[in-house]
Amino acid sequence: MALLGCGVVGSEVARALTANAQELAARAGAPLKLVGVAVRDASRPRDGVDPSLLTTDAAGLVHRADVVVELVGGLEPARALLLDAMRAGASVVTANKALLAEHGRELHTAAAERGVDLYFEAAVAGAIPIIRPLRESLAGDRVEAVLGIVNGTTNYVLDQMDTGGAELADALRAAQELGYAEADPTADVEGYDAAAKAAILATLAFHTPVPAADVHREGIAGITAADVAAAREAGSVIKLLAICERVQGPDGEGIQVRVHPALLSRDHPLAGVRGAFNAVFVKAAAAGRLMFYGQGAGGVPTASAVLGDVVTVARHRVDSGLGPRVLEHADLPVRPMGQARTRYQVRLDVADRPGVLAAIAQVFAEHGVSIETVRQSALPGPQAGGGAGDGGGGAGRTASLVVVTHTATDAALAATVAAVAEVDAVAAVASVLRVEGD
Ligand code: NDP
Ligand code: HSE
Repeated sequence: MALLGCGVVGSEVARALTANAQELAARAGAPLKLVGVAVRDASRPRDGVDPSLLTTDAAGLVHRADVVVELVGGLEPARALLLDAMRAGASVVTANKALLAEHGRELHTAAAERGVDLYFEAAVAGAIPIIRPLRESLAGDRVEAVLGIVNGTTNYVLDQMDTGGAELADALRAAQELGYAEADPTADVEGYDAAAKAAILATLAFHTPVPAADVHREGIAGITAADVAAAREAGSVIKLLAICERVQGPDGEGIQVRVHPALLSRDHPLAGVRGAFNAVFVKAAAAGRLMFYGQGAGGVPTASAVLGDVVTVARHRVDSGLGPRVLEHADLPVRPMGQARTRYQVRLDVADRPGVLAAIAQVFAEHGVSIETVRQSALPGPQAGGGAGDGGGGAGRTASLVVVTHTATDAALAATVAAVAEVDAVAAVASVLRVEGD
């Protein structure tokens, strides 16, 4: 076998292949002989990796192996190398969600045409087995929805902000040092990594090709310490969620795939997912609710998923077998975000005077968005408390108004927020967050 990449994940795979060679051979039915490890800089020694295996000739290496493991990341040359490996008859294993979300159809087609395996358990949620359950175990059921925390870096950052009062930038730096973040951490922070994983999960759950471009994506860059504190005060926590669901609309059944920060009640099981851990809920018609939980990032846990795939595809080669194809026959339409239905929390800085609440409630009513709760608290500042001389009307006082809605469409909520921002007494729309997890 050949290994492309010897970084955070690749180096752990290489070490385990050497350290556990005998046991892995017994499980695979044949020795997993590593014939080369492709890297950018072959002169740099890698702990626990035989230096004679290191090469910068990845293109040549893929022709020397019957199993190729891609842990380089990015779109190119990873795509070309995997296609080349499959054309040469090798089965392939990858952890590259960005590549699968962008070129999944091309890669799955190539695997089917060449009669080789393409396995990618590590591409979503690190060590957690979630690809096989969707691809195989639930193949006879109807998946209704998948909801999860699938990015370890952002979960680590939000958790540090929630429990340690950390600043986003400091927590992100720590996540990078721990090996959770992508080479370019904006992929994590801006939600691209989670969107790629959501695209893969939706493709498997709904047997429909879902490219990353069809995933609505919002990252955590705009989440402030004030948002986190307000969530905490309300008994909630902010998590970056990936949500894939079937939706029924006037044009029939479709699907919706979205990634965005959301408020979850602290009672919700996903609220307790701490640090770089991931968790994925699956709702299926017959199986009901399933939850998968574990380490979503980091070299050693991710190497576990990669090695599981390596043993599986090696076993298939020994037995002249093949894993199941990725099914994409359903071709359900992906509905736009405006049609998404959920609850919302809108935090407003307002003038604290008579009639303001009524004016704001009126705007929500006009847009057909029903209010579930309203909570008002005085905003700190030089004018807080008003006092004598405000005529009893609260002139000069400002307050924070937190409005939580019943279920509404994203389009209706966006129009409501735009109109509320125009209300004279509204000084600022401090934040708008979706409320999930009912
Ligand atoms: P790293 O950046 O740590 O490692 C990348 C490796 O690829 C390095 O060894 C690098 O060589 C090598 N490389 C880069 N470009 C080339 C090239 N053109 N030719 C040959 N080798 C090349 O990445 P990670 O190990 O963190 O991630 C690898 C993959 O696993 C990615 O797809 C990532 O999304 C995925 N993944 C990562 C997880 C994690 O927690 N880190 C978890 C789940 C999935 P050199 O060492 O010489 O620079
Ligand atoms: N950067 C990714 C994360 C690695 O933080 O989840 C795991 O895919």
